[in-house]
Amino acid sequence: MNVGLTTRMTDASPAAVADAARCLKQGGLVAFPTETVYGLGADAGNSLAVARLYQAKGRPSFNPLIATVGDLAAARQIAVFDALALALAEAFWPGPLTLVLPKAPRCTVAELATAGLDTIAVRVPAHPVAQALLRAFGGAVVAPSANLSGHVSPTTAAHVESDLNGRIDVIVDGGAVAIGVESTIVGCFEQPMLLRPGGLPRSEIEHVIGSALVRPPDAPVGTTGQPLAPGMLASHYAPRTPVRLNAGRLEPGEALLAFGSGMVAGIDAASFVMNLSERGDLTAAAANLFGHLRALDALGARAIAVMPVPHHGLGEAINDRLLRAAVPQ
Ligand code: TXA
Ligand code: MG
Repeated sequence: MNVGLTTRMTDASPAAVADAARCLKQGGLVAFPTETVYGLGADAGNSLAVARLYQAKGRPSFNPLIATVGDLAAARQIAVFDALALALAEAFWPGPLTLVLPKAPRCTVAELATAGLDTIAVRVPAHPVAQALLRAFGGAVVAPSANLSGHVSPTTAAHVESDLNGRIDVIVDGGAVAIGVESTIVGCFEQPMLLRPGGLPRSEIEHVIGSALVRPPDAPVGTTGQPLAPGMLASHYAPRTPVRLNAGRLEPGEALLAFGSGMVAGIDAASFVMNLSERGDLTAAAANLFGHLRALDALGARAIAVMPVPHHGLGEAINDRLLRAAVPQ
C-alpha cells in the first residue's frame, strides 16, 4: 500500500546525508544503512514523526523502538548506565549491540517510541553513513528495521524500497550491509539478560561481563506485566512461503536454503537452491540470510526447506531468525 508519499532514493554522499538530516528535523522518515540491517529513522523527540513511523511500518504501537545515538555521551542523555552497562558500551560501541536501560529522568524520547515502558533500548551504530547522519541531525533517532512489520529485515536499499516505497520520504543507499542480522539486545537488569541474539555473539558479551547472560522468561512479560522484548514474540521475520527447518531431505516443489557443502537427498527435485555459505562460514551466512529468504520467498515454491545451521557464534542469531520465519502466520 502507498500512503501517497514520494520516496526519494539517493546514494550516500555528504549532500545526501545533510538532506536526510534536514528531512528528519522536519518530522520526515529516512531509511539509512547500519552495519546490521537498514533502519527507518524518525526524530525520537517528535511524537508525530514517531506515530508516522509506526504507521509506515504497519507496526503495532505497543512494540517499542530502539533509540539510535552517535556516541556514549549522547546515550547518557537518555538512559541511566550502571557499571555493567558502561563496560558493555565501552567494549562494543559503536557496534551491533543494543542495551535496554532505565530511562533517564530528562529523556526527551517520545513516550510513544518507548511504548510507555520505563526502560529504553539504546544503540550506537558503527556504519559511517549512520554515524554521519546522527552527527548531522544532532539528536536521538528512533530506528527500527526498515521493513514492513512482520517481514524480514532489509539488508539492501532495494529491500527497503520494495517494502516502503511511497510510505517514507528518503532512502539513503549505502550498499549492502556488512552483518546482516539485527543487533544483539541485552537487558541490563539485576541479572544481564539476552533479550535477542544478534550480530554480536553471546560469548563476546559474556567474556566482558564475566558471567553467563540469563535467558528471558518463557513468557516475555516483566514483573510490571509489560513485555521485556515484545519483538521476541512468535512470527516476526516471516516470509510468505512456509519454512521447514532442519531439512534432511527435500520434497518435490520445495526451494532449498543450504548451508555448507553437504548434500541433501532429493536435491535434484529442488525448484531452486541458494547457499548461505558454501564454506560453512557463519559470518557470511548471517550477511546472506535475509536476502536469500527474500529471494526464495519470491519464487512461489511450496516451501523453503532449510538445512541445519550450527548454533555457535552468529549461528545463535541465525537460528533464532530461522525459527521465527518458520512459525506459521
Ligand atoms: O540492528 C538493529 O537493532 C536494527 C537497526 C536498524 O538498528 N534495529 C532493529 O529494530 O532491529 P527493531 O525495531 O526491528 O527491533 C527492536 C527490538 C524489538 O524487538 C523491540 O521489542 C525491542 O527491540 N525493544 C525496544 N525497546 C525495548 C525495551 N525498552 N525493552 C525491551 N525490548 C525493547
Ligand atoms: Mg525489526
